[in-house]
Amino acid sequence: MAADHAGVELKDELIRCLHELGHQVTDLGTNTHEPVDYPDFADRAAEAVLSGAADRAIFTCGSGLGPAIAANKIPGIRAVTAHDPYSARYSRLDNDANFLSLGQRVIGPGLAKEIVHIWLETEFSGAERHRRRLEKIERLARAHAPCSPDTSASEKE
Ligand code: RB5
Repeated sequence: MAADHAGVELKDELIRCLHELGHQVTDLGTNTHEPVDYPDFADRAAEAVLSGAADRAIFTCGSGLGPAIAANKIPGIRAVTAHDPYSARYSRLDNDANFLSLGQRVIGPGLAKEIVHIWLETEFSGAERHRRRLEKIERLARAHAPCSPDTSASEKE
């Protein structure tokens, strides 16, 4: 779990809830209302997933938007903002999302807990069409990386 200064209360409440549900949770901060830049903390949370230290990352901020934008710049991260149960479920089933970003100024703690519960309990379907689409997303990242010789994502298939 990580947060910026606008998501500290929701982070702390979700951590309490996750502990009660038996999850192991790492609190990567921030822990005060002192303004911080969400990309710095999104990077920490993403790194925890990429290193294998965490299975998934959950980020809380004001809107839930910026950290997902930031995290999606990092290869291997599939970040979503999901403020309803349907989006939370399908971000796992179809998109194998590994980074969930929630806005404390958008949803209350009850809905956030329900969303987090669904998001953590739902597994990626593994369906071939979804694997293919995720592979294409990775190819887009490679194709648009600076100095990348791989331009295959722009090819028609
Ligand atoms: C902080 O004021 C706010 O911009 C941030 O928490 C988030 O909403 C960004 O996407």
